[in-house]
Amino acid sequence: MSGEIAIAVEDVSKSFGKTEALKRVSFQAMTGKVLGLLGPNGAGKTTAVRILTTLIPLDSGNATIQGINVSAHGAQIRKIIGLAGQYAAVDEYLTGRENLELVGGLYHLARKEARSRSKELLFKFDLEDAADRQVKTYSGGMRRRLDLAASLVNRPPVLFLDEPTTGLDPRSRIGLWDSIRSLVSEGMTVLLTTQYLEEADQLCDNLVVIDHGQVIANGTPDELKTSLGGDLIEFSVIKRELSQHAAEVVAKFALSAPTFESESGQITLRPVGDGTHSLANLVRALDESGIAIAGLALRRPSLDEVFLSLTGNSPDEANGN
Ligand SMILES: Nc1ncnc2c1ncn2[C@@H]1O[C@H](COP(=O)(O)OP(=O)(O)O)[C@@H](O)[C@H]1O
Ligand SMILES: [Mg+2]
Repeated sequence: MSGEIAIAVEDVSKSFGKTEALKRVSFQAMTGKVLGLLGPNGAGKTTAVRILTTLIPLDSGNATIQGINVSAHGAQIRKIIGLAGQYAAVDEYLTGRENLELVGGLYHLARKEARSRSKELLFKFDLEDAADRQVKTYSGGMRRRLDLAASLVNRPPVLFLDEPTTGLDPRSRIGLWDSIRSLVSEGMTVLLTTQYLEEADQLCDNLVVIDHGQVIANGTPDELKTSLGGDLIEFSVIKRELSQHAAEVVAKFALSAPTFESESGQITLRPVGDGTHSLANLVRALDESGIAIAGLALRRPSLDEVFLSLTGNSPDEANGN
């Protein structure tokens, strides 16, 4: 049922020794939607997932899934959730099918049922051909799909995905996105963590941005981008000596002064209001001034820029690298 709160996190804190991994974090995930926890390495994403999936206790605050308290009713929670992640928890030496049947056994499915459920999931995740091969022969993308399949054996209504596509090549990433979308279209509630703005944008209905254990922003992907100031236009001109003049000509299309990088010759406008419209106007204005463009790109802010604008740090700096 939509419009209902599936996951509620209120003022949750968690420390490991002196490290405050989560500091009074609050957020909600709605039933049938995808909530993204977006943040750099070390932000506290996995800690939040481990608390919600009952793997570790919280220090203070309150968390519920479908109204059930995660601290008080771990066994009940484990019946209604699935967990898959960055580090595929499947046995290398078993086949895909054996892995799924094993998980079925762990959930006390009857043998026959475990077998039919495995078959169904192998089909669903496009692993039929590889079903009877050892997992150690699988590609990274296949392992993640198998891990995702394993988290669904019990038909949980709420699924946690901890950085499901980190380390995957672009094609496998898009394949996994499709799998996740199809689960959501069947009514599943998903909480996923990611470091990738694009992934958050593609998959999530709502986002919670966390950094250093704290929620620093939340909203729909569009709301976040708008709050970050919109798109950027980057270009350079064929005659480098005209760069300064070009920057002056296009300045009116951006909210802040254009920046010019002398080494690459790149002029950046940020942010621009209506991207494609501004792009057309910019090309026209330069053309009218007789300035020829070498390269031109309109793009959304990157995750780096999101963090730069929200925290003054890039994700790497925030991570202490
Ligand atoms: N078991 C642990 N022991 C000590 N520190 C931990 C442990 N788990 C996580 N941390 C620390 O808590 C912070 C948040 O980590 P984590 O939740 O794994 O972040 P993320 O998943 O966003 O990369 C980091 O500083 C990390 O080093
Ligand atoms: Mg993590």
